[in-house]
Amino acid sequence: MMNPSVNELSDQLRQLNRIGIALSGERDLKSLLDKILFEARRFTRAEAGTLYIRRKDQLFFEVVQNDLVTRLDAAADRQGKTRRIPARSSIPLAKNSLAGYVGVTKEVVNIPDAYAIPADKDYSFNDSFDRASGYRTRSMLLVPMLDGQDSLVGVLQLINARDDGGAEVVPFDARFEELVHSLASQAAVAITNADLMALLKASYLDTITRLAIAAEYRDIDTANHIHRMSRYSAEIAREYGWMADRVEMIQHAAIMHDVGKIGISDSILLKPGKLTDEEYAEMKKHTLIGARILGGSDSEILQLSELIALTHHERWDGKGYPRGLAAESIPIEGRMVALADVFDALTSKRCYKPAYPTERAIEIIRESSGSHFDPALVVALEASLPRILSIKAAYRDREEDEIQAS
Ligand code: C2E
Ligand code: SIN
Ligand code: SIN
Ligand code: SIN
Ligand code: FE
Repeated sequence: MMNPSVNELSDQLRQLNRIGIALSGERDLKSLLDKILFEARRFTRAEAGTLYIRRKDQLFFEVVQNDLVTRLDAAADRQGKTRRIPARSSIPLAKNSLAGYVGVTKEVVNIPDAYAIPADKDYSFNDSFDRASGYRTRSMLLVPMLDGQDSLVGVLQLINARDDGGAEVVPFDARFEELVHSLASQAAVAITNADLMALLKASYLDTITRLAIAAEYRDIDTANHIHRMSRYSAEIAREYGWMADRVEMIQHAAIMHDVGKIGISDSILLKPGKLTDEEYAEMKKHTLIGARILGGSDSEILQLSELIALTHHERWDGKGYPRGLAAESIPIEGRMVALADVFDALTSKRCYKPAYPTERAIEIIRESSGSHFDPALVVALEASLPRILSIKAAYRDREEDEIQAS
């Protein structure tokens, strides 16, 4: 494997960072689409609306808004009843349904009454929602959502036009068609961008994982170590009570925790036996080297990676390295990754040691609660053990020669 220099690695990271990945892109898309549908309904004074997104040959119900049904649900709620309206998740992209027809032909359809569609049309109205909810659909305006290349991204559907005073009007004013079309195009662009963002995010994670593997420069099992310990860190954080986005953040940031091992010579890193004091002192520098490689970035993820690289060998009792920080003065993410890292080191084979059985590893960790590790996090690790063990099974190394507990 090629062994890139510290400076080359730094450069690559800075370039990646310039891409400016927005990790929250998908969640923002959902609220953006919600807003686009809401605006389309506000302009046309539509009582209800649906935004379908195409995936392969299906149209998925991405956003559904219905003022009347929302009011009825709230009223039922207040009376302690629940209204159960079966939700369909998708319909085929085919001409026999209204949305399917608009998706296939890319035509705008504006009809006065869903229950009076002429028999010679390819499409018919599916009244299952009305029957389940007691809602009465009448006027409908459907427009295709097309991307820059005119390919279908989804369908925007508006239901039951009203006038200023809230009284029903049929059909939708034809002058609204252009406006709704333009809102639909905006939604299409947002969706296309989010898909590209997801692709970019996946390739970004793939790249930093590969850089981390190159830096640790052991063998193929290093990849599994990185997958496991980043996911263990996430499970500990989840169990500790963190929200999903912060959990995802530590999972990604933990990937780079040992990147500083690139600066440690092979003769030490790959040494089959115990390190001498000098060698161990050299080894400890991987925390500082890692922080140097990751430092000075504008990316939130890399800033967290830097913090983790620097603090994942600190100990709760202050006897760790490089700074000898103790207890809460060690950043919580460093404490979490320390625990995930040692659990994986104990339960895996290393060039210098065999793997311990899980029970023995847990015993060692429990004995080190309050000395090496934050006791609250040891509790979180033990509580999340079933999930941690399934991660261990999913990313297991090729050879698992465990020794018996001594
Ligand atoms: P690593 O192999 O990823 O181990 C990470 C941490 O797991 C270690 O940090 C240590 O806290 C814990 N750990 C690993 N094996 C054991 C064990 O058998 N018993 C206990 N109680 N804890 C264990 P540490 O010690 O600061 O080491 C950092 C890195 O230095 C290690 O990362 C490894 O790459 C290297 N290293 C440490 N000791 C040796 C050794 O004796 N020989 C060689 N070749 N490398 C070593
Ligand atoms: C990986 O193990 O593929 C990276 C961990 C992550 O998904 O953040
Ligand atoms: C945090 O959640 O950021 C701090 C909590 C702790 O230090 O235990
Ligand atoms: C270590 O060897 O530092 C990890 C176990 C312990 O804290 O006693
Ligand atoms: Fe380390």
